[in-house]
Amino acid sequence: MWKTPVLIVNFKLYPSGIGEKALKLARILEKVHKERGVSVVAAVNPLDALKIKGEVDIPIILQHVDAVDFGAHTGRINVELAKEYKMDGLLINHSERMLKISEIDYLIQKAKDFGLVSVVCANNSRVAGAIAFLNPNFVAMEPPELIGGNVSVSSAKPEAIVKTIEAVKSINNIPVLVGAGIKDGKDVKKALELGANGVLVASGVVKAKDPERAVNELVDGMM
Ligand code: G3P
Repeated sequence: MWKTPVLIVNFKLYPSGIGEKALKLARILEKVHKERGVSVVAAVNPLDALKIKGEVDIPIILQHVDAVDFGAHTGRINVELAKEYKMDGLLINHSERMLKISEIDYLIQKAKDFGLVSVVCANNSRVAGAIAFLNPNFVAMEPPELIGGNVSVSSAKPEAIVKTIEAVKSINNIPVLVGAGIKDGKDVKKALELGANGVLVASGVVKAKDPERAVNELVDGMM
């Protein structure tokens, strides 16, 4: 398991987060992790995960996996495949790739069996509580309407962060991450002050003119 607070950077499918640029960005994350001693994780697409894994010394997680076994499944990626290629964990049920509760349960249990860290997203505090019952390694709450924007969950929905933490902790003592619109150290600091154990960020880093500076600014809020 990763040390908290943790910063997860989701590369999504931004042009600046694929191919050689993905590797470059992963190296930046590794550099900041080493220089500042904080937990930094990269969530990347499966093709880039293969390129990056082994090149950098930070956890690499897949942005999505399908809840399927081996067999006749065209174009699917399963937990076995993630394990085969030595991935560190899985991002599950992101708002941009939502799953059924039965699939989330399947993936959490399978990730456990294979020794992969499960980070399961929820779009609100109620869903976060439901997911906590399935006992993943992390629950990550992101209000969908704030994802990709410039207003952060910390400033627009502090009460949602508090409610999420209450909901999760009342079920299971699982670390809670929050994300959406997080752009700087102030947003991160506020989220942690409210009780979060880390943050998920995408556009604030991947689309930044100077990603290294952007990551360092976020990490300022973790200090
Ligand atoms: O997975 C993190 C993501 O959904 C947050 O996106 O661009 O609002 O930081 P963004």
